[in-house]
Amino acid sequence: MPQCCINPSILSADFVNLQAELQRISNADSVHVDVMDNQFVPNLTIGLPVVQRIQAVSPVPLDVHLMIADADRWAPGYADAGVASVTFHAEASIAPVKLARELRGRGSKAGMALRPATPVEPFLDMLPELDMLLIMTVEPGFGGQAFLDLTLPKIRRARAAIEGSGVNVALQVDGGITEETILRAAEAGANVFVAGSAVYGAADPSEAIDRLRKAGTV
Ligand code: DX5
Ligand code: ZN
Repeated sequence: MPQCCINPSILSADFVNLQAELQRISNADSVHVDVMDNQFVPNLTIGLPVVQRIQAVSPVPLDVHLMIADADRWAPGYADAGVASVTFHAEASIAPVKLARELRGRGSKAGMALRPATPVEPFLDMLPELDMLLIMTVEPGFGGQAFLDLTLPKIRRARAAIEGSGVNVALQVDGGITEETILRAAEAGANVFVAGSAVYGAADPSEAIDRLRKAGTV
């Protein structure tokens, strides 16, 4: 399995000092940027203009997580911003194959996310179209929630499908990742870990990243 990646979520950072907050996680693999529209999830964060500025100043690549309705319409604009990876929700896309191809065509990696209760099986034929599959380990919308262990069997099935089809797809988990839960997610087969409160809630975010990386390497 590829090495473990830690992608801190700036949802738990200080939004008034984003540039400084990005510098505090310069040892991260990527920065996870949560875009919420108050439609797909009951919360509102930032949109394309702010993501463009983060892209301009970030010391690490951007992993953009779109929790927005009508992903087919809005996601390509984020790829055009030059970010490394754009992840849309399967539940918010009418034509996910077309959208994944469009994201890749515009130069970003294509990720697709599943809410905790969305099964992975209907999407397995799509794996070759994706660079990353994100299994949400909390209901999307807010940081600081508890990890949902009921997602572990889905992570295992997704890992088995990825290995079985021989595709190079990263398996990301997002929500409730701590030094304790990361091990369960890693053992189930996840290899990219988003952590918001566990990183930005720590006294030293960069040390927290190192600790998580160690704890998540199985
Ligand atoms: C939740 C977001 C997450 C969030 C994770 O909907 O997608 O990225 O920031 O926060 P923690 O790690 O605190 O659960
Ligand atoms: Zn996220």
